[in-house]
Amino acid sequence: MHVFVTGGTGLIGSAVVAELLGNGHTVLALARSDASALALRAAGAETLRGDLADLNALRAGAAKADGVIHLAFGNDFSSADAVALTVAEESAALAALGEVLADSGHPFVTVSGTPYVAGRVSTEADPLPTDGLVGGRGRAVTAVLGMASHGVRSTAVRMPRTVHNEGKGGFAGMLTEIARRTRVSGYPGDGTQRWPAVHAFDAAVLFRLALELAPAGTSWHAVADEGDAVRDIAAVIGRRLGLPVEAVPQESYGPLGPIFAIDQPSSSTHTREALGWEPTHPSLLGDLECIQP
Ligand SMILES: NC(=O)c1ccc[n+]([C@@H]2O[C@H](COP(=O)([O-])OP(=O)(O)OC[C@H]3O[C@@H](n4cnc5c(N)ncnc54)[C@H](OP(=O)(O)O)[C@@H]3O)[C@@H](O)[C@H]2O)c1
Repeated sequence: MHVFVTGGTGLIGSAVVAELLGNGHTVLALARSDASALALRAAGAETLRGDLADLNALRAGAAKADGVIHLAFGNDFSSADAVALTVAEESAALAALGEVLADSGHPFVTVSGTPYVAGRVSTEADPLPTDGLVGGRGRAVTAVLGMASHGVRSTAVRMPRTVHNEGKGGFAGMLTEIARRTRVSGYPGDGTQRWPAVHAFDAAVLFRLALELAPAGTSWHAVADEGDAVRDIAAVIGRRLGLPVEAVPQESYGPLGPIFAIDQPSSSTHTREALGWEPTHPSLLGDLECIQP
C-alpha cells in the first residue's frame, strides 16, 4: 500500500515508517520543516510539506494514498488552554482526512490512548473518555471510528501511557526530564498506581497490522506491560541518575498531575488473539536502564 503518514518523525512515527517500508509498503509523509523532510527522505519516505493546520495539504496527502496513519500531535501540555488548542487542531485535521477517505474503503488508522476504568484493567471494549483535559481527543477518535459507516476502514490503535525507546518517551520520559531538572526522581501519590507501557518498535508492528487487517470501527491496545507501579519507574530513573526517589505533590506536575495520579493498567489480550500481535522488545523497566546520567 502507498500510505500517507502524519507524525512520521516522532518517537512512534519513525518506527512506523521503518516498519511499513520494511514490509513492502511505500510512505508519503507529512513534513512541517526542512529538517523533518530531510529525516523522512533519509528514512526512505516521500514527503509532502505542510502541518496539521494545513487542511489542504492533509486532503492532498490522503487523496494520493491507499491508506492513512495519523500520529502527529503538538504535545503542548504547558496549560489547559494550550492542550485545548492542540486538541482542536488535531480534531480538525482528523475530520479533513476523513472527508477525503469517505466511500473509499481505505484504512484510516489513528492513534489514541488506552482508557482508564476505575477498579479494573481496561480492555479494547471500553469506550474512550470524552470529558476532562484530553476528552476532546476521545471525541475526535470516536468520530473517526464512526466513519466506518461512511465507507472508511477506520481503526484506532490505543497507546499506553509510556511508549518508549532507549529509555526515552511517554510519561516515564517526562518523569526522567523532571528528575534531571529538579534533582529528585519524584512520583505523585503513593506511587502504587500503575501505568501500562510498550516499546515503540512493538507499537509500530501493531500500526502495520491494523492498517493491513483491522475491520472498520475497531480499537486495539498496543500494551506490552499491563501496568508498572510508578514508584518502580521512579526507582530505576533515580538509580540511573544518582538521585533520591521521593513522593512529590501531584500539583507540581501541572495539568498532567491528576492523570499521573490514576491507577490505569490496561490489557491487550484481545489484540494479541485477534491480530496475532506479540511484543518482542524490552519492557519499560528494562529499557529505562538505557538512561545515562
Ligand atoms: N510516546 C508516548 O508514550 C505516547 C503515549 C500515548 C499516546 N501517544 C500519542 O502518539 C502520537 C505520537 O507520539 P510520539 O511520542 O511519537 O510523538 P513525538 O515523538 O512528540 O512526535 C510528534 C510528531 O508529530 C509531529 N507534529 C507535531 N506537531 C505537528 C503539527 N502541528 N503539524 C504536523 N506535524 C506535527 C512532529 O513533527 P516534527 O518532527 O516536525 O516536530 C513529530 O513527527 C501522539 O498523538 C501522542 O499523543 C504517545
